[in-house]
Amino acid sequence: MMMVTRSEDGLIQDTSALLSGEGRKVLAALYATMRSLRLYPLENQVVQRALAEVEASARISLNREGRLQLRLAGDFVFFNDVRLRLDLGNYASFVFVRKILEAHGVGSIDVNPAVDIREWTSFLSLLVQEPEGTAQQALESVQQRIQQAGVENIAVGPAAALVDTLSLSEEAKEAARRTYARSVSVVKDVMTSVRLGKAWSGRRVKRVVLGIVDQVLHDEAAMLGMTTLRDYDEYTFTHSVNVCILSVALGQKLGFSRHQLFDLGLGALFHDVGKSRVPLSVLNKEGRLDKEEWRVMSQHPEFGLILLFDLHGFEEPPYRAMLTAYEHHMRTDFTGYPRVVRDRWMGFFSRIVAVADAFDAATSKRSYQYIPFPPDEVLREMRDNPSRGFDATIVKAFVNMMGIYPVGTLCILDTGELAVVVAPSPNPEELHRPLVRVVSDASGRKLPEPPLVDLSEEDAATGRPVRTIVKTTDPDKYSITVSDYVA
Ligand SMILES: [Fe+2]
Ligand SMILES: [Fe+2]
Repeated sequence: MMMVTRSEDGLIQDTSALLSGEGRKVLAALYATMRSLRLYPLENQVVQRALAEVEASARISLNREGRLQLRLAGDFVFFNDVRLRLDLGNYASFVFVRKILEAHGVGSIDVNPAVDIREWTSFLSLLVQEPEGTAQQALESVQQRIQQAGVENIAVGPAAALVDTLSLSEEAKEAARRTYARSVSVVKDVMTSVRLGKAWSGRRVKRVVLGIVDQVLHDEAAMLGMTTLRDYDEYTFTHSVNVCILSVALGQKLGFSRHQLFDLGLGALFHDVGKSRVPLSVLNKEGRLDKEEWRVMSQHPEFGLILLFDLHGFEEPPYRAMLTAYEHHMRTDFTGYPRVVRDRWMGFFSRIVAVADAFDAATSKRSYQYIPFPPDEVLREMRDNPSRGFDATIVKAFVNMMGIYPVGTLCILDTGELAVVVAPSPNPEELHRPLVRVVSDASGRKLPEPPLVDLSEEDAATGRPVRTIVKTTDPDKYSITVSDYVA
């Protein structure tokens, strides 16, 4: 399953975006058909037209990919293994289709290219009827009736647990790793050239930002996992890439287009480019900066603004990125720096990057911060302390994206086990119950094959959750490298 390809000019092409669009069309056509089947007889024009649309929209990917699979997992829907992005425009149709499928115990639909409109008609007419008994019984009944109706090219299966879906994505992780490593090395090259006063190439930069944007659109979880790598020696460069990933992922949640995500990502990746004008002795100093050192350090937003003027290879100077570099420490109440003289409005991109920047900085080990803060505490502080000067709405969206316990958080469970968070719960009401890998048992022994566990899982006998997070803790205390488990 190859979804990311390289075109002739070397740019990353994301075929998952193509599949995503097709998937949403199929979903919309299924919705229209099932709805009209409930209202009108089969011969009705509306029903017939909707059925033709199902066949036509499915045909495109059936012909190209040789198969079509629609699969539900938790709150997600996958179309040929690509997670469909659902927005307000298609959410209602998704909920409608999901309800019908769930009532029949159907979690996946597999279609062969030989399918015809007669088979679609029989299959969908079946689904709009009342389901029989439990989910298990309903599914068996659907399977039986499909067979009786002579439908050979559509098969249905039960829902897969979200846990299984996640463990399948080894390939996505590998792609994320490659993108991450390449981005860090380009940022390092660029910032080093800038430090030496050399010109920098917009082409390479453009490619890196597009690579990150496409990778986030393709598999956000795998890319967010990469931000937990946190290499101490390469802090300045990994920090830039992390802030870019976090900002782009947040922009995606806020409904930005790919083009807007590119602009946002560019500003995020180079928000600290001005630090290449700060002497290394100040940049890497352990302990507090003195007054003069701080004066130089706090000029990095202005330096960044000026340096980005020299970023060639674009139609015009990257104004939005320049603004982001200039404003990212300003704070919404303008108590930060550079000092504000006249009334102004802080740019939307700058507000996003400020949140991503603060989160990554506080959770990382740096020269003057040997013990990083646990991610959940950082989020709480950002949300609850208005004097930090973050945009409250953006922090809220950020917490929703990261979960209360962000990916990479080490937790102590009420069972005495230690676990690393690998993905937030897909259910917004269960943010305190993420998916985790249990890394050691109650006696503190590390598990050679850490199992993936959904913390919202309940004990069938008592109806109570099997495991609950008691508190978060510092991975260094237990010599645990969290990225081994998520990235
Ligand atoms: Fe900064
Ligand atoms: Fe920063």
